[in-house]
Amino acid sequence: MKTHLQLELYLISLVVEQLIKIMQNLKPNILLISRYLSDNYLDIFQSKFNCTIFEDIKNLDNFFSNSGTSITGVATFSGIDKELISKLTNLKIISCFGVGYDSIDVNAALERNIIVTHTPNVLNEEVASTTLLLLLAAKRQLIPNYNWIIDGNWEKKGNAPLTNTIEKLHVGLLGYGRIGQAIARKLLAFNCNISYHARNKVENSSYKYYKNLLEMARNVECLIVITPGGPDTEKIVDKSIIEALGPKGTLINIARGSVVDEKALVECVINKKIGSVALDVFENEPKVPRELFNLDNVILAPHIGSSTHETRKAMLDLVIENLELYFNNKKVRTPVPECSKLMNLMYK
Ligand code: 8YV
Repeated sequence: MKTHLQLELYLISLVVEQLIKIMQNLKPNILLISRYLSDNYLDIFQSKFNCTIFEDIKNLDNFFSNSGTSITGVATFSGIDKELISKLTNLKIISCFGVGYDSIDVNAALERNIIVTHTPNVLNEEVASTTLLLLLAAKRQLIPNYNWIIDGNWEKKGNAPLTNTIEKLHVGLLGYGRIGQAIARKLLAFNCNISYHARNKVENSSYKYYKNLLEMARNVECLIVITPGGPDTEKIVDKSIIEALGPKGTLINIARGSVVDEKALVECVINKKIGSVALDVFENEPKVPRELFNLDNVILAPHIGSSTHETRKAMLDLVIENLELYFNNKKVRTPVPECSKLMNLMYK
C-alpha cells in the first residue's frame, strides 16, 4: 500500500517527466553531420537542440521513414548532398561549419527554399597564420632541420644546410577575398612583394593584379592558393601553372584540394619541376598521396587551417547562432551569398 506522500511524489515525478517531454518537443530537431565535431561541442548542441548524429544512425531507411520529417535543421561539418537534402522533407536551414561550403549542394537547398549559412570572417586570421606557418616551414626547411638533429647529423656532420629566406619574397595569391587579404597583411611583415589573381581587380588594393593566372605563376616565387573550391575552380592549378613556378618556386595550398591537379602535382614533385610544396588540403581527404611522404621539400598538414580551440569555438558559436536566429524567426547572421534572394523574400 502506498502512503499518501509516496503517491504525491509519484504524481510529481510523472508531471516532471511530462514537462521534460514537452520541453524537448519545443527544441528544434536537428541532424548533425559531424566528422569534425568534438565531444564537448556535442554537449553544447544537445543543450540547445534535439540532436541526431548522422554517423550514429544504424538504419538510414528506418530513420528517414520514422523521424526524417521531424528534422528541420542541419548542422554540417562535412557537407550535405542532394540525396540527403531530398530525404529530409521538412528541412528549413543548413548551417555549415566552415567558410567554404563547396561540399553543400546549395542549388538543391535553394530549390526547396532552404537557407544555407556558413562561418566567414571568424577564421580569417587563423587560416592566414597557418598559411605563414606552412610558408616558413617550407622555405626554412623546418622538418629536415628537425630531422638533422634527431638523425644525429648535427653532431656527425655539423651545421645543417642553408635555406632560403621569405624576406622580400614575391608571392602571388590565387584568390584575394577575406582570407587572401589577411594573408597579404601578414606577408607585409616579411616585406614580401605581393601580387594576386582573382576574377576581378580589387579597386582599393595597391598590389599588382594579374588577370591571367599563368602569367602570374611565371612571375612569382611562391603561389598561395586561397580561392573557394567547387566546379568554377576545379584543377585551375594544373601542370602548366606548377611548371611555371619552376624548380625554385613554392606552391602552398590552404584552400581546397580540388583547386590543384593533384596527379600533376605529384608528378612535378617527383620530377623536381617544382621547388617546394606545402599542402593543408587534398583531393580525397583524409587520403594523401603516399608519393608525397617523407620528402624534404614537401610539408603536409591534415586540413588544420582553422583548427585551434579558439577559432573552432568562434566558428561553432556562429553555426549555433545562425540556427537559433532562424528558429526564433529572426534573420540569420551569415547566409551564403547565393541565398540573398531567398533572404529578401523571407525577411521583407
Ligand atoms: C574547416 C575550412 O576545417 O572553413 C573552411 O572552409 O576548410 C575549415 O576551416 C572545415 O570547413 C571543416 O568543417
